[in-house]
Amino acid sequence: MGSIDRTFSIAPMMEWTDRHYRVLARIMSKKSLLYTEMVTAPALTYGDVDKHLKYNESEHPIAVQLGGSNVDELITATKHCTNYNYDEINLNVGCPSERVQNGKIGAILMQEPDLVVDCLNAMANNTDKEVTIKHRIGVDNNDKYENVKSFVDIVANKTKCKTFIVHARVAILKGLSPKENRQIPPLKYDYVYKLKQDFPELKIIINGGITDLEQVKQHLQFVDGAMIGRSAYQTPYDVLHNIDNILFNEHNEILSRQEVILEYIKYMDTQAKQGTPISTMAKHLMGIFHSQKGGKAFRRYLSENMFDKDTTTDVVKKALEFTN
Ligand SMILES: Cc1cc2nc3c(=O)[nH]c(=O)nc-3n(C[C@H](O)[C@H](O)[C@H](O)COP(=O)(O)O)c2cc1C
Repeated sequence: MGSIDRTFSIAPMMEWTDRHYRVLARIMSKKSLLYTEMVTAPALTYGDVDKHLKYNESEHPIAVQLGGSNVDELITATKHCTNYNYDEINLNVGCPSERVQNGKIGAILMQEPDLVVDCLNAMANNTDKEVTIKHRIGVDNNDKYENVKSFVDIVANKTKCKTFIVHARVAILKGLSPKENRQIPPLKYDYVYKLKQDFPELKIIINGGITDLEQVKQHLQFVDGAMIGRSAYQTPYDVLHNIDNILFNEHNEILSRQEVILEYIKYMDTQAKQGTPISTMAKHLMGIFHSQKGGKAFRRYLSENMFDKDTTTDVVKKALEFTN
């Protein structure tokens, strides 16, 4: 407990940060903290637990993100996550999608801090792992700093949760799609910095709109860590290839894009033997050659051929030839 280095983390992203993407990310960075996609507590209570929770040992340090607000379901889910030895269990209080709102999951819970307290306490009482929260700075018109301050105050005082990952925008609960909710509400980094000033004993992690390591370094002057989502997926090499040396004072050899992919191909081969479709894994390579010579041809070749029946990792090796 408490030993996780949160200087830099990759955000939970549905359909994007699956276990295959996380292995790819781990090839480039050994130190970044990785998050799973959100898994709902009902899915772990009534569904196929192994399908949702299995991961590769190389992924540590790895946090699982839960969605839910039914205390019994969260307890069941937390116990499963603990058995699977995730390093951290995070509660999603930031997702604005109307579908999850109906299940009382995500950002809508910011309106009910006492329920969030019950959820986090239920989780913490059923695990020896650190329990954390990811939330917004508010919902709808509740966009004053005092609102998020009061939310953090209540949660920090009534639970063992001491790590707050703050997406520096409000969530608009009606009328905006999840995608628009990541673009339209303005970023208010000053709110997150102020939280760190007002609660110096808490770990405050900033998220939202950060695209490169220079920005990360700026934020680290004011908060304990930074989390990147979209850029870590869309331009993974740019964000991750040298991050351990730059942010974590490591002295690692830097892998080229090709070397990263050759390493990932080894992983793909072992997974393909167990029945994972090549396309499920190869789709995460689309951003590696972003803005690079041959990148377009690499992507085109992969997308046109990776879905073929009986495809092997040869399809990736062939695509790589366009980049030499
Ligand atoms: C495709 C996609 C899926 C996402 N899924 C989740 C999720 O499951 N849980 C969550 O807390 N946030 C989710 N998010 C939000 C991100 O974690 C992050 O908070 C947001 O993208 C802002 O960070 P960024 O500007 O660095 O992308 C998702 C974002 C994207 C783009």
